[in-house]
Amino acid sequence: MKEEILKIKQKKKAVILAHNYQRLEVQEIADFIGDSFELARKAREVDAEIIVFCGVIFMAEMAKILNPDKKVLIPRIDARCPMADMVTVKDVSELKKKYPDAIVVSYVNTNADVKAISDICCTSANALKVVNSLDSEKIIFLPDENLANYVSRFVKNEIIPFKGFCYVHKRFQYDEVKKAKDAHPDALLIVHPECDPDIIALADEVASTSGMIKIAKNSNNKKFLIGTEEGLIHRMRKEIPDKEFYSAGTSKMCHNMKKIRIEDVYESLLNEKEEVIIDREIMDRAKKPLERMLEVV
Ligand code: 13P
Ligand code: SF4
Repeated sequence: MKEEILKIKQKKKAVILAHNYQRLEVQEIADFIGDSFELARKAREVDAEIIVFCGVIFMAEMAKILNPDKKVLIPRIDARCPMADMVTVKDVSELKKKYPDAIVVSYVNTNADVKAISDICCTSANALKVVNSLDSEKIIFLPDENLANYVSRFVKNEIIPFKGFCYVHKRFQYDEVKKAKDAHPDALLIVHPECDPDIIALADEVASTSGMIKIAKNSNNKKFLIGTEEGLIHRMRKEIPDKEFYSAGTSKMCHNMKKIRIEDVYESLLNEKEEVIIDREIMDRAKKPLERMLEVV
């Protein structure tokens, strides 16, 4: 199947982009693997007629918004991010009415219609830089409450969080992380900012998924406890074989990310389905906050 995928990919001049949480066999056939920020940047650079995006729908939408004239495919159209679905246009409009002077910073984990009414986007890799680039005193930050609270610790602006959350990172519990730390006292604990504040308080480092890989590669430590989805841990073990990686507690899986199997990638390429289609007006408006984010870093 891998060989077949490579053949069709070449014939159709397609590129496969995959998020760090994808199944290892999907990562293996990808041209590029990364975190949300790297994938957004890559999507803008690629010279291909078709982009097959292996991730959740908001990521594939980002690739489409940044490349409106390219064909963007997602192998499973039902691979959604529940956190992105927590915030609606109505929620944002109400917040804007309540805080008319505030700037709206939308985490990329939002749907295209929400991005279209936001001022700027951010990812877990650049949230702090994005907020620091704004002079507004008040910032509506959505949808992840944990990321909003994490950012608010380092900035002077008033951060107004939305109460969204990631069910995967929420599952890291204080007791299990503490137990893992006690069992591996020589390990560096790196967690994702979507984790709860009590988990972040235990961490040595807080980073995006690809940020975690960079930290592990550059660190003198040999052992790491990782507070994020298990797909990243598989990538780390493969790419950094001389170091040890463990989940900071039981292994956590994003079922939405794991919907895409290698067979789905094959079918997607072969039949050019499912194509990501977004209303043109929404797409034009959503492009601005994304481009603005890409200019910050
Ligand atoms: P990253 O941008 O850090 O890869 O995070 C994406 C995500 O969905 C985290 O749950
Ligand atoms: Fe969404 Fe959480 Fe899955 Fe990331 S891990 S895609 S935030 S549900």
